Amino acid sequence: MQHRTAVSTVVSALCGVLALALPAQAASADQAGHIIVFGHRGASAYAPENTLSSVEQAAELGVDWVENDVQRTRDGRLVVIHDTTLDRTTNVKERYPDRAPWSVSSFSLAEIKQLDAGSWFGPDFRGERVPTLEEYLDLLDDTGQGLLLELKQPELYPGIERQTLEVLARADWLDLPHLSGRLVVQSFSAPALRTTHRLRPDVHTGFLGNPPVSQLKQYAAFTDEINAEQHSVTAAYVKAVHGMKGAHGEPMHINTWTVDNAPAATKLARMGVDGIITDRPDLIAIATRPRTSQPS
Ligand code: G3P
Ligand code: CA
Repeated sequence: MQHRTAVSTVVSALCGVLALALPAQAASADQAGHIIVFGHRGASAYAPENTLSSVEQAAELGVDWVENDVQRTRDGRLVVIHDTTLDRTTNVKERYPDRAPWSVSSFSLAEIKQLDAGSWFGPDFRGERVPTLEEYLDLLDDTGQGLLLELKQPELYPGIERQTLEVLARADWLDLPHLSGRLVVQSFSAPALRTTHRLRPDVHTGFLGNPPVSQLKQYAAFTDEINAEQHSVTAAYVKAVHGMKGAHGEPMHINTWTVDNAPAATKLARMGVDGIITDRPDLIAIATRPRTSQPS
């Protein structure tokens, strides 16, 4: 057993070294200049956010990356849901009227699994469930999409960084193909990203926010991407981010959210952002597609 642990530590360390040496291409504009389009909470304009249907919808639209939000139940299971309470996106109020404020962390997984996470969005999605992270990763294995995984309010869930990495490892999402091109862990919490980077330096991370240029170097010690709200992005800021080397020794990338209209996407693409996180990935893919020259 000790031997197996030692071997797995060595393998993990080697993977780390290899991944550190790979380009941080996880979420950057590709060589043809295409902006990476991330389906925000799946394709959340067309299906209930953060559900398996939302991922399927994104896959049908040809979206290569989806974004989600991860939190923890009372009995310690990781689930994919945005709000820290269940009332906006499920029928929890109907089912458990006496349990306000319906925090995710105060319900067991079995209880959450009884909730309808689709009817609020539309009758076609009645009976949709809140997925566990494991279920979500399984589906992405089928669709082949990449995952921009957000640790949502990690300060509410001590140890969620390590636990998320353990779930990812068990699902074979910390192997080289995933580490080098299909997984980024992001958060508004710099401490959570520092912890993630310390535990698994081979995992690409993204900071949600727009630190001042003078602080970018500090962020570059533990993150590869600055994922900034769209109105905070300027061409000068994009240039400043690209001028830094991130945690994997490659130029830092900048993605922006949540961009759901074509003119804004076109403007941000011209500023040079690497990726756009959107509820309407079909629309944004068209808006940011490089233009071919007109035949003469
Ligand atoms: O990925 C960016 C975006 O998801 C951050 O905001 O509130 O939608 O999680 P929020
Ligand atoms: Ca999010």
